[in-house]
Amino acid sequence: MNLKNPPQFVSGGKPIIGHTLEFRQNLSRLDQRGHKEHGDVFAMKLMNQNMAVVTGADYNKKFYLETDKSLNITDVYSFLKASFGEVLFIAPHEEYMNQRPILQAIFSRTKMADYLQAMQVEVQAWLDGLGDEEEIDISAETLNLTQAVAGRAFISPNYKAELGESFWQDYDAISRSIDPVTPPNWPLPKFWRRDAAKQRIQKRLKQLIAKRRENPDAYDDLITQLFEQPKKDGQFMTDEEITILFMGLIFAGHETTAGQAAWNIILLLQHPDYLRQVQDEIGANTEIGQPLDGRVMRSLQHVYWAIDETARLRPSAPMQLRIVEEPIEFGEHVIPSGWLLRVSSATSHYQEEVFANPEVYDPQRFSQARGEGKNSFNLVSFGGGMHKCTGMNFANNEMAVITTLLFQQFDVELITPDPQVLTGVGANRATEAIIRYRKK
Ligand code: HEM
Repeated sequence: MNLKNPPQFVSGGKPIIGHTLEFRQNLSRLDQRGHKEHGDVFAMKLMNQNMAVVTGADYNKKFYLETDKSLNITDVYSFLKASFGEVLFIAPHEEYMNQRPILQAIFSRTKMADYLQAMQVEVQAWLDGLGDEEEIDISAETLNLTQAVAGRAFISPNYKAELGESFWQDYDAISRSIDPVTPPNWPLPKFWRRDAAKQRIQKRLKQLIAKRRENPDAYDDLITQLFEQPKKDGQFMTDEEITILFMGLIFAGHETTAGQAAWNIILLLQHPDYLRQVQDEIGANTEIGQPLDGRVMRSLQHVYWAIDETARLRPSAPMQLRIVEEPIEFGEHVIPSGWLLRVSSATSHYQEEVFANPEVYDPQRFSQARGEGKNSFNLVSFGGGMHKCTGMNFANNEMAVITTLLFQQFDVELITPDPQVLTGVGANRATEAIIRYRKK
């Protein structure tokens, strides 16, 4: 007799559509209710598609380590394939493995030092452009800033002229089209806009690549470095492959970071006692105009704990999905093949037995002494296993540079008292969050 049952469904499902509406409008609330009703494994229904949700380090670990085995990551993100093409984990698994040395080269230690410099140039340029005293929407500002950093780090110092005016608007059109529920080829205006934007972005990137192919010695940037970086099979990437890779990289690399960077500043401003410790640390370890090299960055512990706490409370990529290819067990439940499976930050990041007072903003929980972040599988903000975010250090360093230089040079006050999470676009961002700054 098989004692293993499929998971129980969370309450609130409607005829025909199941939980689709709440899934789109308030995923955290839905997950938290499911967890409360049924524990670490529960289910929901999106139209006629069953989806199981798991919680906690052991189950999250199984989710990540079974990926590319009994769990499929490639097909489940077909809604992203329509936006970018077959790149990174949305490429077939053999091609993904073949391209992995390229990803490793892009995020090597030496490249990271270059990126750190690019971040500082762009963040300082942003701060220099702010003037002495003003109010701004930090959510909008971090989006522009992370675009500038991605442009400088991945394209070239001359990225503004090279990418042209409409480049980021086109990315925005793609972001707005991202929808894990609606089939990506339905005849909807948002998908038409996505396809037109994708064509323009690809055309632009192909032009940049062609210019570098013609005269590689005139450039020293990531694109030209990739001309000389073989894949696992010894072949070099074609222009088409480089184009698709850059589309994916630039997408993965800016909007998610923009969301968490803004939240990091908002949460610090909402917690002045902790902010004071951050400001003291910045004052003690940095000087205006001095480069933030690896050594200085390592001294900014309070800054990085704040960044980890932001990733716990306001993760900007909350949707990690797999398709179950072979039935898989989680405790007393078995998830049948054909189901979708998901990990949930809304439940895993609030486990009371792991995170003391999980609702409370408390960055020092990540200190070595407290060690609440020790088992990284409790935190799913950057994924795990083979497909764990390759850009995690890039993103964390970028957020650290933004936070450090802003609070090093400005006094800042939060004017919008309680910004909310804005769901429904590619990554979760904050709603308008006005801050007032004054140059020190
Ligand atoms: C706060 C910012 C970021 C968040 C929250 C985030 C989140 C994630 C998550 C959750 C995954 C795994 C998806 C899954 O397993 O289903 C992932 C993968 C990935 N991310 Fe990020 N990411 C961020 C920033 C970045 C940046 C800055 C880059 C590049 C510049 C980047 C590049 C990638 C790549 C290439 C992968 C695929 C890794 C693989 O399949 O081997 N991400 N990211």
